[in-house]
Amino acid sequence: MFRLIELIDIEKQYVQKKAAPFIALRGINLKLTKGEIFGVIGRSGAGKSTLLRSVNLLERPTSGTVIVGGHHLTELSEKELQEKRKKMGMIFQHFNLLETATVRENIAFPLKISKLPAKVMRQRVDELIKLVGLTDQQHQYPRQLSGGQKQRVGIARALANEPDVLLCDEATSALDPQTTDSILSLLKDINEKLGITILLITHEMGVIRAICDRVAVMEYGQIVEIGTVLDVFLHPAHPITREFVSEVSDTLGSEALKAYSGPGKIVRINFRGELTYEPVLYETVRGTQATFAILQGTVSRMKDVPYGQLIVELRGDESDVNRIISELDKRGLAVSEL
Ligand SMILES: Nc1ncnc2c1ncn2[C@@H]1O[C@H](COP(=O)(O)OP(=O)(O)OP(=O)(O)O)[C@@H](O)[C@H]1O
Ligand SMILES: [Mg+2]
Repeated sequence: MFRLIELIDIEKQYVQKKAAPFIALRGINLKLTKGEIFGVIGRSGAGKSTLLRSVNLLERPTSGTVIVGGHHLTELSEKELQEKRKKMGMIFQHFNLLETATVRENIAFPLKISKLPAKVMRQRVDELIKLVGLTDQQHQYPRQLSGGQKQRVGIARALANEPDVLLCDEATSALDPQTTDSILSLLKDINEKLGITILLITHEMGVIRAICDRVAVMEYGQIVEIGTVLDVFLHPAHPITREFVSEVSDTLGSEALKAYSGPGKIVRINFRGELTYEPVLYETVRGTQATFAILQGTVSRMKDVPYGQLIVELRGDESDVNRIISELDKRGLAVSEL
């Protein structure tokens, strides 16, 4: 698999006038595969923006190596770096649009800097406007647009120079949930249709769950957990990851469930993929003397993979219950006792 971005042993210290240097990133090692959507999640101040801005060297690491598309960016001159940056589009939480320019002019801006011929530029802007769905708004100014529409302009502008990578800094944090969904599905579309690798940072696990393939969790300038979204969601290891997961999970941390104590053994069963829709639990219990009560359940999806989670009380003698648990395990479900 082609490694598009490699961050090797990155450390970033912010020099401060009246205090000791602040270490914002330490020991960051990260590899992004071409074509993936990679999410970085962390609380405010964890170092997410610093990490993102290290990729295109808007923020130059104090030490370490940044390689993008096989080029060691940390060794390039400022002029060479400018060229490479064109292939890394960036979008921001607060859009950063030119207020005195129309939608068209905002999108054309990076093309003007690239000195594209007027005709090619017009065609390219037309394509981009169509891609982000702003045909009716193309002559309006940013103040005449909704937040979601502004972010669409931001996305089109970031795509103008046909980048290989899209760096997204909290791209949906200023938007309401519905608009967030529409922007996320636009990003997913762009990733699928244009094959652009996306690195996004967020403090919302819902964003990670909706579109990311892999995720890294950051705390105090370090990556504390990394893996596929499915694995991290279903088996969060670090306490901060557990907190993030519980924010979007209906079943974890429910007060009512904590207060319940029944006669049987309470287990959590995670289903993923097609098994989510199969009557696996029923089939497994059927051959025994045991019964079960469903205490809680959800079916959802991570990106395109369906998953389900059931909290079940298994009632029966111990050998039956243990047999059920090992049978579920054999069929590929993750079972954990609560
Ligand atoms: N120019 C700077 N000088 C000194 N410290 C800085 C500077 N920029 C950022 N920091 C500090 O570095 C840490 C990481 O900042 P960063 O902006 O990367 O965090 P973040 O995870 O993006 O947070 P948020 O979710 O609030 O955007 C913070 O503690 C911040 O105060
Ligand atoms: Mg930030």
